[in-house]
Amino acid sequence: MISRRALLAGVAAAAAPRLVRGAPAPASLGEAAAASGLLFGASIGQEAFDDPAYAELYRRQTRILTTDVALKFDWLRPAPDRFDFSYADAIVRFAADNDKLLRGHTLIWNDRVPDWLKRLSAPEVERVFDAHIDRVVERYAGRLHAWDVVNEPFWPMDGKPGGWRDGPWFAAMGPSYVERAFRRVRAIDKTARLALNEAQCDNDYEWGRSIRPLLRGLVERLLDAGAPVDAIGLQSHLKPQWPADYSAFAGYVAGFAERGLAVSITEFDVDDSPFPNDVAARDGAVAAVGARFLNAVLAVPAVDTVVAWQLSDRYTWYREISRRAPRPLPFDRDLQIKPLGEAMAAAFAAAPRRAPRPSR
Ligand code: XIL
Repeated sequence: MISRRALLAGVAAAAAPRLVRGAPAPASLGEAAAASGLLFGASIGQEAFDDPAYAELYRRQTRILTTDVALKFDWLRPAPDRFDFSYADAIVRFAADNDKLLRGHTLIWNDRVPDWLKRLSAPEVERVFDAHIDRVVERYAGRLHAWDVVNEPFWPMDGKPGGWRDGPWFAAMGPSYVERAFRRVRAIDKTARLALNEAQCDNDYEWGRSIRPLLRGLVERLLDAGAPVDAIGLQSHLKPQWPADYSAFAGYVAGFAERGLAVSITEFDVDDSPFPNDVAARDGAVAAVGARFLNAVLAVPAVDTVVAWQLSDRYTWYREISRRAPRPLPFDRDLQIKPLGEAMAAAFAAAPRRAPRPSR
C-alpha cells in the first residue's frame, strides 16, 4: 500500500513540477515567465473543449492564449451572408473564465480563405474586407489583449513582385490592404495591441533571408505613414533542418524595438523531423534548439510575450504533416513536461527582467 506521506508528496510533485533542474520549482511555465516580466501562453482550439485534462494544462501553464483557427476568415465566414462566431465566442469565454489574456489570430490573411471570396470582383472584395473588420473587431473590442491584424504579408514563393503573398485581399487592393486594415481596426478597438505577424524570419534558408528585409521595409513604411502598428509578431516555427543564426535574428528583432515596437513570439514550436527516432535523443535536440533560440531572443527587452502553437504534442499541427508522431512542443502526448518545457522555463528564468509596459 502507498503511504499517505508518499501519496501527498506525489500530489505535491504533480501540482508543482520541477521545471528547472536543480532549481526551486516554479509552478508553471506561465509563472516562470511572469517572474521575468514575460507573458507565456499557447494557441488554443476545440481540443481544449473536448479534452478536460488538456483544458487543465492551459489553466495551469498559460497566462495568454491565441485563437488557433477560430477567428480565421474561413471559420467565421462559411457563406457570404453568414458569420459563425460560436467557436470564437467559446474561446473568448474560456479566456475570461480562467483569467487569461487573449490574442486574436488573425483578422486578415491571404491564405485560408473560402472559395466564395475568391469568386468576387475587386470592389466586392473591398466591401467584404471593410465589413468583416468592422463586424469582428466591434464584437470583441475591449476583450482582446492583441490582434494579429495581418498575417504573413510576404510569401515570395507566390512569385508576386515585392514578394507579397498572393490571395484575394492582395489581388483586389495590392499592398495597400495592410495599412487599410490597421487603420480600420484602430478606429474601432482603441486598446488591443495591433500586431503584424510574419513567418520564417528566424531562419537563414532562402525564405527567411528574403522575408526579413521585406518585413522590415514594410514596417518602416507603415510607421512613417503613421499607421497604428504596435507590435511585430514573429511566428517562430523553428526549422532546425535549415541554417539559422539566432544571435543575428535577435539583432533583427532589436531593430523593431528601436522603432518603439513591442515584439511577440507568436507561434513557437520546434520541428523535430530532422532528429533521430530515439525519443530521448530527439527531445534533447529539440530542447537544445529551443533554448538557443529563446536565450538569444529574450535578451532583447522588447520581446515580452512567448506563445507556443498549442501546448502538447498530442495536438500539434505537425500531426497534419509529419511522417511519425511529432514532438515539437513543451508537453508530451501524456501532457507531461518534456526537456523542451524545462529548457523554456530555464530561458524564462534567465531572461533579463522586463519593466511592465504601461499599455498595449
Ligand atoms: C495552422 C493551424 O494550427 C492548423 O490547424 C491548420 O490546419 C493550418 O494552420 N502559421 C499560422 C497559423 O499563422 O495560422 C497556422 O495555423 C500555422 C502556421
